[in-house]
Amino acid sequence: MLDILVLFYSRHGATRKLAERIAQGIDGVAGAQARLRCVPPVTTVVQPLEPDIPATGAPYVELADLEECAGLALGSPTRFGNMAAPMKHFLDSTGAQWFAGALAGKPACVFTSTGSLHGGQEATLISMMLPLLHHGMLLVGLPYSETDLMTTPAGGTPYGASHVAGPDANRPLQEAEQRLAVALGRRLGLIAVQLARP
Ligand SMILES: Cc1cc2nc3c(=O)[nH]c(=O)nc-3n(C[C@H](O)[C@H](O)[C@H](O)COP(=O)(O)O)c2cc1C
Repeated sequence: MLDILVLFYSRHGATRKLAERIAQGIDGVAGAQARLRCVPPVTTVVQPLEPDIPATGAPYVELADLEECAGLALGSPTRFGNMAAPMKHFLDSTGAQWFAGALAGKPACVFTSTGSLHGGQEATLISMMLPLLHHGMLLVGLPYSETDLMTTPAGGTPYGASHVAGPDANRPLQEAEQRLAVALGRRLGLIAVQLARP
């Protein structure tokens, strides 16, 4: 059974919902299972450290999760057209894995959630691809054979799964957004299984 790491940061839960759908897609692939992990928040204010284990939801990621995974789905809310600082902070701690080529040749995809429809989803998704390319990962997007890409009234892009959470960050995932997130997870899982074949 191949573990596919679904790694995300989510302040208000919208990106987490996408992560769960991507995991659903991965879990639907024979031979693949999703491993859900999140990164802790960071702050410019000096304060006591976060507890080692979150009170609810996915555990905090460890670098070993990256080394052990056969693929990676990376998700972050959009912050000013870019990934959120906690995700960048975590990625900046992966120098040893970069030197060792721990992620090289593994498939990866990206996902995001925004407040507004034109708030920079594609820019965020592309920004998240850059460190993964440096790691030598093989990026997986969504093909237009996923017909929801043509008709979605909210999120869902060929660059990765996405969600428009609205100004109060509380809109539920739309059906097309859910289908596209599941399809992305499924595609990632299938490719990971195919790459792992001898
Ligand atoms: C500091 C900050 C910057 C943000 N920048 C953007 C932005 O550039 N475009 C956008 O559409 N939404 C922006 N948002 C809204 C979030 O991307 C949106 O609420 C997202 O769905 C939250 O995801 P989460 O529930 O996983 O935390 C921003 C929110 C904050 C707090």
